[in-house]
Amino acid sequence: RQKIILDCDPGHDDAIALLLAARHPALELLAVTTVAGNQSVEKTSTNALKVCTLAGILDIPVARGMQCPLLRPPRFAADIHGESGLDGPEVPPPAFSLAAQHAVDLLIDLLLHSDGDIVLVPTGPLTNIASAIRREPAIVPKIQAISLMGGAISVGNVTASAEFNIWADPEAAAIVFACGRPITMIPLEVTHQALATEEIMGRLRAMRRPVSTFAADLLHYFADSYRQVFGFPAPPLHDPCAVAAVIDPDIILTKEMHVEIETQGEWTVGRTVCDIYAKTGLAANARVGYALQVERFWNLLLDTLQCY
Ligand code: BDR
Ligand code: CA
Repeated sequence: RQKIILDCDPGHDDAIALLLAARHPALELLAVTTVAGNQSVEKTSTNALKVCTLAGILDIPVARGMQCPLLRPPRFAADIHGESGLDGPEVPPPAFSLAAQHAVDLLIDLLLHSDGDIVLVPTGPLTNIASAIRREPAIVPKIQAISLMGGAISVGNVTASAEFNIWADPEAAAIVFACGRPITMIPLEVTHQALATEEIMGRLRAMRRPVSTFAADLLHYFADSYRQVFGFPAPPLHDPCAVAAVIDPDIILTKEMHVEIETQGEWTVGRTVCDIYAKTGLAANARVGYALQVERFWNLLLDTLQCY
């Protein structure tokens, strides 16, 4: 089984990424680390504990991470995820506590003591990963790979230029993209193909299990947000795509290229500048996704949720 650490900010789609990561037979989820993003790190941490409790995931450490981006004030996404970060379904309180260790310490410990066989799966701002790299650079060669949800080849979703996870902490993203380890970047172009249509919702509701019903309720709220804010006909399941790319690397079509993170621009902060035609002459530092095998993705996700 492929060892992974899910670094997340739940978040409706993060919650479903967590359910996928914890239960897919090809993965061994070593830890869940939380970060400020969709909401404060207090809220995203409580949400992670709640999701784990509801799904009976009680043996995986959940560690709270950074409460602020490296240089900027935190900015949340309450318009999409609500005040709690996981608005919509009623979720019972957590039945267990956060790990004693800070997420950055846990990331460093797990990586340093590994055989270089851990894939990091960040689905929020990259503050924890960048902080771990800065604090203990010896972890870098131990990172097998990074499969991250973030960025866009073309237009953004939080500004005209930028996708939320990268925009929320562009300096952290710049550190991660410069780390030299294999990166798979799952941008909006891919995740906007993972739309939870009425047909998908029907398949989910038909399972009639507590976890599948919870996922459907999350998506119901998420659908309203995406309809109101973006006029989308159905909500995109961004974060599970980054987990799916580890389980089944061919599920996302990618192209290797150099990616720079804009940290200075007047209108473009947080933009992932994707050098598709190799104009910079700089070596590729990422495999950038551009298409999703949609049917295969939903089968993988729904088959896994069915196991709860
Ligand atoms: C990303 O931003 C968050 O709102 C989602 O959880 C996802 O990680 C999409 O831009
Ligand atoms: Ca997220």
